[in-house]
Amino acid sequence: MAIIFDKQTSTFYLEGKSYTYAFFINGRGYAEHLYFGNKIGRDPLFFSRLCDGAKSFAAYTSDKNGKSYSYNSLKAEITFFGNSDYREPTVCVEAENGDRLTELLYSSHTILKEKPQISAMPSLDGGETLVLTLEDKIGGLAADLYYTVYEDTDVIARRIVYRNIGQKKLKLDRAYSFCLPIVGHDYDVLTLRGSWARERTPQYTPVHIGVCSIDSKRSSSSAVLNPFMALCEKGTTENHGEVFGVSLVYSSSFVLKAEAVENGVLNILGGINDFGFSWTLDVGCELESPEAVIAYSAEGLGGMSRAFHDAFRDHLINKRFVKKSRPVVINNWEGTYFNFDNEKLKAIASAVANTGIDTFVLDDGWFGKRNDDRSGLGDWFVNTEKLEGGLKAIIDHVHSLGMRFGLWFEPEMISEDSEIFRAHPDYAIGVPGRERCYSRYQYMMDITRPDVRDYIVESVTRVLRENEIDYVKWDYNRNVTEFYSLSLPADRQGEFSHRYALGLYELCERIVEANPKVFFEGCSGGGSRFDPAMLKYFSQIWTSDDSDAEERTRIQYGTSIVYPLSSMSCHVSVTPNHQTGREAPMKTRADIAHLGATGYELDTSAFNDEDRVLVKAQIDEYKEMESLVLEGDLYRLLNPFDGEFFAFMLVSKDKSRAEMTIYRRMGRPNESILPVKPLGLDSKKQYYVPELGVIVSGSTLMNVGIIPKLPKEDFVSYKLHFEEK
Ligand code: GLA
Repeated sequence: MAIIFDKQTSTFYLEGKSYTYAFFINGRGYAEHLYFGNKIGRDPLFFSRLCDGAKSFAAYTSDKNGKSYSYNSLKAEITFFGNSDYREPTVCVEAENGDRLTELLYSSHTILKEKPQISAMPSLDGGETLVLTLEDKIGGLAADLYYTVYEDTDVIARRIVYRNIGQKKLKLDRAYSFCLPIVGHDYDVLTLRGSWARERTPQYTPVHIGVCSIDSKRSSSSAVLNPFMALCEKGTTENHGEVFGVSLVYSSSFVLKAEAVENGVLNILGGINDFGFSWTLDVGCELESPEAVIAYSAEGLGGMSRAFHDAFRDHLINKRFVKKSRPVVINNWEGTYFNFDNEKLKAIASAVANTGIDTFVLDDGWFGKRNDDRSGLGDWFVNTEKLEGGLKAIIDHVHSLGMRFGLWFEPEMISEDSEIFRAHPDYAIGVPGRERCYSRYQYMMDITRPDVRDYIVESVTRVLRENEIDYVKWDYNRNVTEFYSLSLPADRQGEFSHRYALGLYELCERIVEANPKVFFEGCSGGGSRFDPAMLKYFSQIWTSDDSDAEERTRIQYGTSIVYPLSSMSCHVSVTPNHQTGREAPMKTRADIAHLGATGYELDTSAFNDEDRVLVKAQIDEYKEMESLVLEGDLYRLLNPFDGEFFAFMLVSKDKSRAEMTIYRRMGRPNESILPVKPLGLDSKKQYYVPELGVIVSGSTLMNVGIIPKLPKEDFVSYKLHFEEK
C-alpha cells in the first residue's frame, strides 16, 4: 500500500518510488503539510512543524480545545483567502452576497486503488489515489484534493475538484490545481522560456520574498513559457541536489507561482490562469482543475527529468504507440513548401523507397484553394486543381512503394478566404463590432461551441474515412486574440479560455481516439504547444520549425528537461539550413535528429544512389538504437548552453546497452578535449565499447571518461556504444 492513514495522529503518508509525502489534519480541521522528500519511516512528524499555535502579530483561529492556529504560518495543503491567510490563495470564490472569505476544513477522505480519470481532460492513468474532501459549509464550497502516487516513478499527481454544496450560485475567480509547501528559500526557480524556432531554453531565477510567476494568457500553453516550473536547491547540478518539478497537464492559459513567505516557507501553486478567468458554479455543479504532475528528485535535474519521462511514457502517452517503433517519415514541407503537384510528391517518395523511410507525410497545401498561407483553412477537401486524381493518386503511389501515408491538418483554424468562412463567418472567434487580429492570415475556430466542433470532426473524419491515411500531423499556427464566444452569456465570458481547452480535448477524443489505427503527431508552428496534455493524444510533437542541428542541440536539450526523447519529432533537413543558413555535415544532422522520433524533411527527389545508401545506413543505425530512445533513461552529460559541447547518454533500463552522442559546435586549433564521463551504467558490469575496441567495467568508464575523437571541422558529432559482455 502506498497511501496510509494513521488514525491516531490523523496523518496521511503517501509513498512514491523513493519519496514520502505527509500531511495531517490539525485540531481545527485544516490539512497541514508535514513533509515531502526522500522516503522516510511512517513516524510522527509533529516535531517538524514550523509553528504550533499563534505567532506574534498574527491573526488566529482556535479549535474546540482553545488551541490557536495562525493559518498564515502553517504549511498548507491548500491556501485560501481569509481566516488569517495572506498568502497566494489556491482558490478564490465569491458568494452572491459578495463574501470572498473561505475556510476549507476536513470533511472526509477515501483511498482508491486506482485513480478515476478526469472526465473532460487528459491526465495520468493508474496509481493509488487519496481523495481528501475539505468543505467550507458557510460559503457552500467543497474542494476534493486528489493525490495519486506511483510505485514505479517519483511523481505525485495532484488536482482539485471544486463543488458548489450550498444553496446559491458561486463565482470562482481562481481555481488552481494544487499548492505545495517546501521548507526554505535557498532555491532557484527553473522555467523553460522561448519563442518560435527557439523553444524551451532553461532559465533560472533566484527565489525572493514575494512571488515568482510564469503564465500564458493565449488560450494555449505556448513556446514563450512552458507549463513547467522546478524549484532547485541552490547548487543543483545535473546529478546532485534536491529538485521539485511541476508539469501541468494542460494546454490553455496557465499560471505557475513560487511564493516565498516571510516564515521561510516556499509555496508552489498554479493551474488555470486566473487572469481574465471566472467560472460560475451553479448549485450542485463542479469544476475540475487540470492535473499537476509533481516530480521529486534527490539526484539533481537529471533525476527529475527521468521521473517525468517515466511518468509520461508509462501513464500518459497513448499506450498503442508510446513504446512501439515509430514511423520514419519523409515530410515534404521544407522540400516543397506550397509548391508541389502529384508528380513532385511521387518523386520525393519514390526516391527514398527501400531506405527504411516508411511513411510519406503530405504537409500543408493539399486542400481547399490553398496555394499559400492566405486561404483554405477549414475547407478540408482536396485541391484537385493541384493534385490531379485527388489524394487517391498520391496515396496509391505511396502504398505501392510499401510506405504509409500521412496528411497535415490544422483543425482549429479558419481562413477568411475559405468556403466555410463565407458560409459561417460566425465560426471564427471574434467580438461583435471589433476587428479580429490576423495571425499568419488566419482566424481561429470557436471550438468552445459544439456546432463548430461537430463541423471540424465531420470534415476531418470524412477525409480519414474516405482515404487510407495512416498518420496525421495536427498543426496549430496561431493563438487566440479575441477571448470571446458568441455562445456564452456576458457573465460567463471569463470561462472562454478553459472552455477552449475542453473543446480541444473533446476534438481530440472524437478525432484521435476514434481513429485508433492512425498515428497522430502534434505541431504548433514548431513546438509552441508542447505540453503533457497534447502528448496524451499526440505520441510525438514536432519540436521546432528550426531544424538546424546546432540549434536543435539546445532546443532538444531544453525540451528533455521535462519531455521524453520519444515525444520529440526531429527531422534531418537540407544544408544550408533554411532557418539559419548554416551548413552542417549529414552525419551531424542525422545524429542529432536520431535523439528523438526521427524523420527526414527535404527534397529527396534530387537524391542520387550515394545519398540513398547513406540514408539507409543512417536509418539502420537508428533502428538499432530506437529502443533506447523509446524506453531508455536519459543522462545529459554536456550542456550546450554552457559551452561548445553537447552530449546525451541513453541507457537501457536493465543497463545492458547504452549509447552516447557527443557534439561540438566550433573547432579550435590546438584544442584540449577533456574526457566525457558516461553516466547511468552499472559500475559492476563489463561493457564492450566497439569504437574504443575495449571491454572495461562501468565503474572504469564512468570514472575515467572517454576522450571523443572529433574531426577538424565545425558542427561535428561522435557516437559511442556500450554493450554488456
Ligand atoms: C507550421 C509547422 C510546419 C509546417 C507548416 C505548414 O509552421 O510547424 O512544420 O507544417 O506549419 O504550414
